[in-house]
Amino acid sequence: MEINRQFKLEVLNDYEAMSNAAADQIIELLHHKPNAIICIAGGDTPVGLMNNLVEAYRQNKVSFNKCRFIQLDEWVGLDSNDKGSCYDYLNTYLFDPLRIPEENIYSFDAKASNLLGECRKMDEYLNEEKGIDLIVLGIGQNGHLGFNEPGEDPAKNCHIVELDEITKQVGEKYFEDGASVPLSKGITLGLKQILEAEKTVLIASGEAKASIVKEFWYGEVSRRNPASLLKTHGNCSVMIDYAASSGL
Ligand code: PGA
Repeated sequence: MEINRQFKLEVLNDYEAMSNAAADQIIELLHHKPNAIICIAGGDTPVGLMNNLVEAYRQNKVSFNKCRFIQLDEWVGLDSNDKGSCYDYLNTYLFDPLRIPEENIYSFDAKASNLLGECRKMDEYLNEEKGIDLIVLGIGQNGHLGFNEPGEDPAKNCHIVELDEITKQVGEKYFEDGASVPLSKGITLGLKQILEAEKTVLIASGEAKASIVKEFWYGEVSRRNPASLLKTHGNCSVMIDYAASSGL
């Protein structure tokens, strides 16, 4: 696959600056496309960005009343009420403070008995809506995007995943009582849908991400490191803080 050298890497001073810069991408999009479809990863890295969006909303700098949100991924077996779930992150830091109506949020039911049905529903929704306008992704310590783990087929749509050992270990930090959480499978948008987004933004913060960021930057494009596939995307911004850049 060909590397598209259009993609930009910005090293920002700190987490706050990175969060600000990433939030600006969303605000800018909403100014020219108020009904955009936006996808933001759950987890710790995007929390600052979400706080920035809420602050901009409170200062009347942007309106979210027409945009739609798509969920990137979820731990199978958890739902929106489970503390630490991907949805819970988005709801706590974004949907709830912004008062996003439920009909503007398209999420997975990761507790459904028919998980494949959940995948097909999301595929259909994205097909009807002609895909995502902007997706903000974190990078896993193993290079995963959403729950697309190393080795994943880049041609896949939504699917169920057996989680990688690193993802399970890292994931324990989200839950106070790790023992009660079934971290073995995930439901996720596929790499095809991620790579078809109009605009992709990859964010990374902290020393723990420095090694995978280095691999991303210097390594080849390979499904062994799903994040590296973003280097083939024509409209990708990579925003990292200084700590995450220490291997560059
Ligand atoms: P984090 O996780 O944003 O909570 O660091 C990202 C990931 O591991 O995918």
